[in-house]
Amino acid sequence: MTGKTARDLASEMKEIPFSEFIAANPHLVGFESPLKTIPMSIHELVTNSLDACESAGILPEVWVDLKAMDEKGRLKRYRLIVRDNGPGIPPKNIPHVFGKLLYGSKFGVRKQSRGQQGIGVSAVVLVSQIKTGEHTTVKSSIDGRTAHVYELTMEVNRNAALIHRKYKEKAGGWRGVEARVVLEAQFTAKIREYLELTAAINPHLTLHYDGVDEKDGLEVERRTDTLPPQPVETKPHPLGIDYGLLGRMAAHTRHKRLYDFLKGEFDRMRPEAARNAIRSCSFDVDKPPSTLGRQELMELLEAMRSVEVPPPSADCLSPVGEDVLVRGVVGRLRPEFMEAVTRRPSAMRGQPFLVEAIIAYGCEADIGGSPDPVTGVSIHRFVNRVPLLFSESSDVILKAARDAGLGRYGVIPESRSHLFVHIAGVNIPYTSESKEAVKPVDEYYDEVKLAIQECGRKVSKRIRQARQAEESLIKGRRKALIHSLLLREINRFAGRKVADGAYAEAFGFEGLLEEMVDRFGLDVLRPRRQGKSVEEVEDAATAA
Ligand SMILES: Nc1ncnc2c1ncn2[C@@H]1O[C@H](COP(=O)(O)OP(=O)(O)O)[C@@H](O)[C@H]1O
Ligand SMILES: [Mg+2]
Repeated sequence: MTGKTARDLASEMKEIPFSEFIAANPHLVGFESPLKTIPMSIHELVTNSLDACESAGILPEVWVDLKAMDEKGRLKRYRLIVRDNGPGIPPKNIPHVFGKLLYGSKFGVRKQSRGQQGIGVSAVVLVSQIKTGEHTTVKSSIDGRTAHVYELTMEVNRNAALIHRKYKEKAGGWRGVEARVVLEAQFTAKIREYLELTAAINPHLTLHYDGVDEKDGLEVERRTDTLPPQPVETKPHPLGIDYGLLGRMAAHTRHKRLYDFLKGEFDRMRPEAARNAIRSCSFDVDKPPSTLGRQELMELLEAMRSVEVPPPSADCLSPVGEDVLVRGVVGRLRPEFMEAVTRRPSAMRGQPFLVEAIIAYGCEADIGGSPDPVTGVSIHRFVNRVPLLFSESSDVILKAARDAGLGRYGVIPESRSHLFVHIAGVNIPYTSESKEAVKPVDEYYDEVKLAIQECGRKVSKRIRQARQAEESLIKGRRKALIHSLLLREINRFAGRKVADGAYAEAFGFEGLLEEMVDRFGLDVLRPRRQGKSVEEVEDAATAA
C-alpha cells in the first residue's frame, strides 16, 4: 500500500463553514440529548425575547406553547411556539438571525447580557431541520401594523438562510417576534423547572406557558413594573486585561500619548494610577501607543496590573437585587425565613462580575429539581438572569456550595432549604458554548463561596435567635406554672384566696415565700409589689 503524498493530502483539504461544523456537532451548543432539546430551544428563544425587550425598554410578556404532534418510539415530535411583545426584528434581518450562525448584536459588547455569540436561535432552527426536516416559521412585526412571516431553514453548506416562503399579514397591534419550530425530543420536567426559575429570577416578566396537557402549564404575573436598570457598556479594567487585548487596543487607539490611552480607554484608570503605571515602565513612554512592540507591551501590562485601581465599575452589570429576588422566591417556596447577600463587584481578567446568594430556610413548597446529594440543599444556579439546569457537576456554584460548609450554619438536609446563587457578569467563563455551567476559576469560586458563607452566617444567626426566643418562651411558661402551683398552696394555707405574691406578702407570708425561694432556688417567686404598697394591699384585703 502506498502512502499519500503531501500533495494528495493537500488536495483533500478544504475549509468548512461554521454551520457544517455545528450540524455535525450539535452537542457543542447544548443539543446532545433529546432530553435537552426542548429546554435548550425554549432557553434560546426566551432569552432572546428578554434581552430584546430589556434593550428596548419594554416590560416583557412571553407566551410559550408546547404540544406533542405524534408518537415515534420514546421520542416524539413537539411543536414549540415562543412569542414575545418585544421590539421585533426588521424583515430583512429575520433570515440572518434565524438562518445564520454567528450573527447577532451582542458579540464583544462589554455589558451583561444573556446572549453573546449569535449562535443561539439559529442553532435551534438547525437542530429542528436536521431531526425533523421541518421548516421554522418566524413572524415579526416592528410597527404593530404589518407582520412579516418567513418560513425558513438553514443552508448548512453556506451558513445562510434558505427561505421557503415569505408573506405579510396584519399584525393587529401586536409587536414582537413569534417563532414556531418542530423538535424531535423527549419530554422532561426540566421544561417547567426552567420556566419557573426564569420567572423567579426575572420578576419583571409576565410568562404564559401552555404545555403538553392540562397539568403542564404555568401563569406568572410580573411582580414589578420596573425594568432592571439597563447595564451600560464599560471599558476593560486594568486588573484583568491580557496581552492580546492590550495589543489590539494599543494598535487601534486614537490616542497619541500613553497617558491619554491609559486614562481614556481603561476602566478606573485615574490620573494618579496612569502616571504610576507609566513611571514604572523602562521604555520610551513618549512613543505613541500604536508603535509599542511586544516587549514594551508586556512591560506596560505588568505596570498596569501592579498599580492600585478601584474594583471595576459595576454599571455594566444588572444584579437582581436582594429585595426583588426575595419577593420572587418567597411566593413560590413559602420558607420559614430567607437571608440574602449581594457581594461587591469583583473582576476576572478585567471583566466585572458579582454574586448574589439567597438561602430560603424551611420551605413548605418546592420548585422542581431535587436536593443536592452532598449538601442535602436544593441548589439553583443562575447566570445573568438565566437558570442553569445542566452540567452542574462541572459548575463553580455547585462546587463552591459544597465547599462552603453549609451544615455549619444549620443549613442541613432536614431544614428543607433552597440556595439560590446568581452570577451577574460580562464574558462569563462558561465551560462550553452551550452555557450550561461556569468554570470553577479561582476568582468566581472565591466570590461564590464567600457569598454563600456570608449568607450562611446570617441564617445561623436567625436560627440562633429563633432558638433563644423559643427557649425563653419555654422558661417563661415553666416559671408561670410553678408560680401558680405555689400560690395554690399559699391559698390553702391562708384558708382563703390570695391573688398573687404581693397579696401573700400582705398577709405575712413573705417569710414563707422567702423560704421557698431559698430552698428551691425559685427566684421568680420573690414577692412583687406590682406598684402597690403593703398598706394599699392591706386596705383592699380588709375591704374584700
Ligand atoms: N425575539 C427577538 N426580538 C428582537 N431581536 C431578536 C430576537 N431574537 C433575536 N434577536 C436578534 O438576533 C440576534 C441573534 O440572536 P442569537 O442567534 O440568539 O444570538 P445572541 O442572542 O447570542 O446575540 C440577537 O443578537 C438580537 O439582535
Ligand atoms: Mg440568543
